[in-house]
Amino acid sequence: MTAPTPPDPSLLLQVEDVHKSFPGVKALDGMRLDLRRGEVLGLVGENGAGKSTLMKLLTGIYTREAGQFWLDGQPLDVKGVRDAEQRGLSIIHQELNLVPHLTVAQNIWLGREPLAAGFFTKPGRQTARTRELLDRLELDLDPNALVRDLTVAKQQMVEIAKALSFDAKVIIMDEPTSALNDTEVAQLHTLIRRFVTPRTGVVYITHRMPELKQITDRITIIRDGQYIDTIDTASATLDEVISHMVGRAIDTSARPVNVRHDREVIMRVSGLSTPGLLRDVGFELHRGEVLGFAGLLGAGRTETARAIVGADPMSAGEIELKGRKVVIHNAAQAAALGIGYLSEDRKKYGLMLNLSVEHNIAISSVADKFSQFGFERRRAMAAAAQDASELLRIKTPSVAQLAKYLSGGNQQKAIIARWLVKDCDILIFDEPTRGIDVGAKEEIYQLLNRLAGEGKSIIMISSELPEILRMAHRVVVMCEGRVTGTLGADEATQESIMELATWRVSEQREAA
Ligand SMILES: Nc1ncnc2c1ncn2[C@@H]1O[C@H](COP(=O)(O)OP(=O)(O)OP(=O)(O)O)[C@@H](O)[C@H]1O
Ligand SMILES: [Mg+2]
Repeated sequence: MTAPTPPDPSLLLQVEDVHKSFPGVKALDGMRLDLRRGEVLGLVGENGAGKSTLMKLLTGIYTREAGQFWLDGQPLDVKGVRDAEQRGLSIIHQELNLVPHLTVAQNIWLGREPLAAGFFTKPGRQTARTRELLDRLELDLDPNALVRDLTVAKQQMVEIAKALSFDAKVIIMDEPTSALNDTEVAQLHTLIRRFVTPRTGVVYITHRMPELKQITDRITIIRDGQYIDTIDTASATLDEVISHMVGRAIDTSARPVNVRHDREVIMRVSGLSTPGLLRDVGFELHRGEVLGFAGLLGAGRTETARAIVGADPMSAGEIELKGRKVVIHNAAQAAALGIGYLSEDRKKYGLMLNLSVEHNIAISSVADKFSQFGFERRRAMAAAAQDASELLRIKTPSVAQLAKYLSGGNQQKAIIARWLVKDCDILIFDEPTRGIDVGAKEEIYQLLNRLAGEGKSIIMISSELPEILRMAHRVVVMCEGRVTGTLGADEATQESIMELATWRVSEQREAA
């Protein structure tokens, strides 16, 4: 049998008329795409549109029902990720695919360790090779650190290093920057520019619209598994891309809604220190306020949240709730005190992949709202989960679906739904909109505003400055484990926040 002729042999990667279904879902329905040599092609679409599915078909993780792929003019039919890598197709997965108990070096070379004496890998050589790679990529990572001890952002960098360590023709990046801040995104973009030559190309999936302008040459839009259009980045406006993607216009220029003049302090944190990082962190959270937390990677925002809810030990400090001192030992106790905590790491601390969407939404409320597990309660739980799922437009055949079958952004929506059902006075959300599409983001912002309007208080940790500026009534900025300043909504700008976020506390103190 002769191979079918590719429609255009000058293209680097071609996808023609691909179909894929899952029970109850048509994930891809005649999808196509082409990647030219030497270009970065953006791929955008709403949560559940089918982006990751397409990438998983390309790399042989799933098998397609119909359609054709070509790589460099050759029909492409890979058997799995290793096979894909050997053919020059490397992927950065949306859900990080690292082995937590192995080191950075072991993860990067997994399955292709340099062998010594037939059997044993040479750890020394592996470390040296890794260091060389990381130096070349200018990534600040320790080859011998265990992956489970790394923040989500650092884990994402390991995935990036891994993908770039292959001699790839095409790198597929499925939301490579969801955990990165602007500085790190710029760093990744530099790496991409260095990677792209006249014989290579990148498919770049993102929900962060401004990145499309920064790094892509063209943008392909997918909606409900179908190809919509491909446009040149230079001539496209982001509004145009967004309306193609969600099928309607979205106003992304809104600013924080006015705070009510209710200055009741609902939570006061003072002198908070941890053995590792935090030094004397203090702030007040008012009723009905969205308090943003900004800073660079490692500034201590996640650590602050974790110390407050008792997930990490504190070495000093006090927490007062409505004027009463409390000691919190774990997240369950925090929840009992009316503090909901959404972790930045949904896979490790949030989502139960093998439970249904319904259970994932209702789980924190089971103890109180849905306590007696009678039939009535079950029904109430199902109804509440159903409502929340509809409110957030979680894309799933039903709430009985297991969480692991949801797309990344829809998994994130399910955890947000959990805290909406729970009815807490205080919500601490760490990167709540990570991986969520532009349209749904705006809906979540409106929901959070409504909660604040009802008198709930929200701490929003975010690496996306536009999100902080959009939402926060006040912004606490951290750097190197300390609070370097608090800005009102009227003072907060990209510049004023960045200045405080890069404030070198140690240098400042030496100078003083
Ligand atoms: N293994 C699976 N079993 C069942 N359904 C699945 C499976 N994988 C994906 N789906 C469904 O296929 C659809 C497309 O999902 P996909 O992960 O490709 O979306 P996506 O565009 O990557 O979204 P996101 O932006 O949220 O990452 C979704 O409705 C999802 O629930
Ligand atoms: Mg995806």
